[in-house]
Amino acid sequence: MEQEKKEKILFVCLGNICRSPLAEALMREIQTKYKLGFTLDSAGTSGYHIGQKPDARTCANALKNGIDMSNLRARQFVAGDFDSFDRIYAMDKNNLADLRKASKNPAHSHKLSLLPHPETEGEFVEIPDPYYGDENDFESVFLLLNRSIHSLCTKLSKAD
Ligand code: 4NP
Repeated sequence: MEQEKKEKILFVCLGNICRSPLAEALMREIQTKYKLGFTLDSAGTSGYHIGQKPDARTCANALKNGIDMSNLRARQFVAGDFDSFDRIYAMDKNNLADLRKASKNPAHSHKLSLLPHPETEGEFVEIPDPYYGDENDFESVFLLLNRSIHSLCTKLSKAD
């Protein structure tokens, strides 16, 4: 995983305060460790939380697991993101469906997918929305995203 990368990667969930900013923060951590060169960002399909810090429960859980994501701010996905990014990873099938609806150009559809399944090659994983959940849900989301983002980094490294 030590080669230079230039691809632009966007993670998308509903609010951009729980799952997608955590995906971004986890990949930034790996990127720093292995000196990768991806451009990373995250966004929400909704505009509910524009400009806000990630959810306090997500931040606290991430910090407990060694990840500081307090510098991130929520933004809404915009149509221009289809041009700006090479790969766009939706956190669940609803997010993916919303992105597919927003995509006017069929040439963009190959950029869209769920995250790769952390254990099963060729399959994809949905990251459940923890917003209405409890502490255990935030921890499960962290653990699942952590494995999925590691798997994504391995996959992207092999793709070169
Ligand atoms: P996220 O979680 O999509 O992982 O950021 C949510 C954040 C906010 C809401 C729903 C899910 N909300 O309904 O405000």
